[in-house]
Amino acid sequence: MSAFRSDLFEGKVALVTGGGSGIGRGIVAALVEHGATVAIMGRNAERLEATAAELGSRCVPLAGDVRDADAVTALVEGLVARCGRLDVLVNGAAGNFLAPAATLSSKGFRTVLEIDTVGTYNVSRAAFLASMREAGGAIVNISATLHYGGTPMQVHAASAKAAIDAMTRTLAVEWGPAGIRVNAVAPGPIEDTEGLSRLLPEGMRAAMERSIPLRRFGRIPEIADAVLFLASDAASLVTGAVLVADGGAWLAGPALM
Ligand code: HXC
Ligand code: NAP
Repeated sequence: MSAFRSDLFEGKVALVTGGGSGIGRGIVAALVEHGATVAIMGRNAERLEATAAELGSRCVPLAGDVRDADAVTALVEGLVARCGRLDVLVNGAAGNFLAPAATLSSKGFRTVLEIDTVGTYNVSRAAFLASMREAGGAIVNISATLHYGGTPMQVHAASAKAAIDAMTRTLAVEWGPAGIRVNAVAPGPIEDTEGLSRLLPEGMRAAMERSIPLRRFGRIPEIADAVLFLASDAASLVTGAVLVADGGAWLAGPALM
């Protein structure tokens, strides 16, 4: 059962990038369950449609690539024209893989920066211009903890997420006067996700879980709960914050994420 009131987002309109799978999908399910109408953006139209069919008529697929600023602007403007405004934006779209810095190509580095960082900027700016500068709103960026220390084979993703944290703080200051709160959630390793399956070294699961103070990986609904809090009026004074939800993993020392 949810810890939040079931009508917490009644009448609100949200957009979740990366909402077709994994953590993003869990965030969409939670927003829908608490009353919101939620558009989901990703490149794979078939997967978006399947997710929307599973989550019901208040989940709307919007196929698009967050790297394409013009396409993003058109999709966000279309959503606002249909729904009247955009109250909540969750930037969850990301790409990642393990690669040593020495052999990662410049294009590989740039691809991850373009999806994670430029994509977050493109969608945030489109949301600001189409609705939030007039009506206010809440933006929640999905970050990570891998740049708090140094994580080998993650120079691209660590750089991308560090920039997202900087963007979170900068836009919180620049857009605060318009009634827009900008925050981030930084998950640790989360069960049943593409991210964990791509990044968890073979045979390391048990050791990694033991190294976490809460002695386990996170679960998708736990990240959704952190996002619901930051997007809701319960966090009405919170802006520019990065909420770490990782069971204490990064504090306890070297690990993958
Ligand atoms: C080295 C790689 C690579 C790999 C791709 N590249 N995979 N380099 N090792 N495993 C390089 C390619 O060689 C190419 O450069 C460049 O990256 C672009 O590759 P494309 O395949 O053309 O890119 P694209 O089709 O845009 O796909 C993006 C992608 C892909 C990121 C590469 O994996 C993707 O779509 N991922 C989305 C799903 C995902 O990654 N989910 C996990 C999120 S988890 P060259 O020079 O060779 O042409 C996450 C966790 C973060 O973000 C924090 C965790 C703690
Ligand atoms: P995931 O299921 O692969 O989610 C990534 C999503 O981003 C996919 O739905 C993908 O959809 C979308 N996406 C990728 N490139 C895109 C693009 N160019 N344009 C639009 N959408 C794009 O992985 P996940 O593990 O759940 O990760 C979700 C978020 O949590 C990410 O921000 C990730 O960095 C963060 N995170 C995850 C973990 C973890 O343990 N899993 C830990 C820390 C942080 P399409 O392929 O359809 O485009």
